[in-house]
Amino acid sequence: MDDPTPNPPRDTAPHAGVSRRSFIATLGASAAAASLTSAAEAARTRLAAGRTKDGPKVLGPDPVQVTLRINGNPMETTIEPATTLLEALRLNLGLTGSKEICDRGSCGGCSVLVDGKLTVACMMLALDAVGSEVTTIEGLAKGGTLDPVQAAFIQHDALQCGYCTPGLVMASRALLNANPKPTLAQIRSGLSGNICRCGTYTNVFNAVLVASGQQPVIDSKGA
Ligand code: FES
Ligand code: FES
Repeated sequence: MDDPTPNPPRDTAPHAGVSRRSFIATLGASAAAASLTSAAEAARTRLAAGRTKDGPKVLGPDPVQVTLRINGNPMETTIEPATTLLEALRLNLGLTGSKEICDRGSCGGCSVLVDGKLTVACMMLALDAVGSEVTTIEGLAKGGTLDPVQAAFIQHDALQCGYCTPGLVMASRALLNANPKPTLAQIRSGLSGNICRCGTYTNVFNAVLVASGQQPVIDSKGA
């Protein structure tokens, strides 16, 4: 004989005192709690790492005193953790040769060498440069003698307003350090991250060719 009692809706069917809906809700809450716990645990671990003797150090959010090695010299300054290397150079240390033009890593005007590697200083935190050797345009000449790249830029009139020039010189130096005799195509490619609004590229390429002991091959109208 049929049972006259209708089945209860599936979602609310009692099962050992717990409905399907409340069971799923409990699962979700448990997962969220576990996630929060693991996030908190990770934060605690990171802070603990900052306090360990050999582990990564947690700095900030207050201003911190750092020593940067710039052009072979240790230079102390106090910076906020978000300070870029470019800001530290120009605003804290008075090294204004590296130019701020785009401030977003797209023009090359702030190019410096960090441990010999071409770097746009506006895209690097000063804190990340601690422990590295930073070379700026101010440190390129040695004992009053210009770097061959600087001398060639002057000889070949490779600038107009000059605002992009420190970045182009540093990029050229990095290129020649890696490749002492680049072809014209390699020079074009190596300097492609540096923008000159005055359009001095022709003379810049000639200057790099001459600085690398080669003949200038581009006429003054560009090739
Ligand atoms: S100012 Fe740094 S790349 Fe333009
Ligand atoms: S010389 Fe003026 S922007 Fe390059």
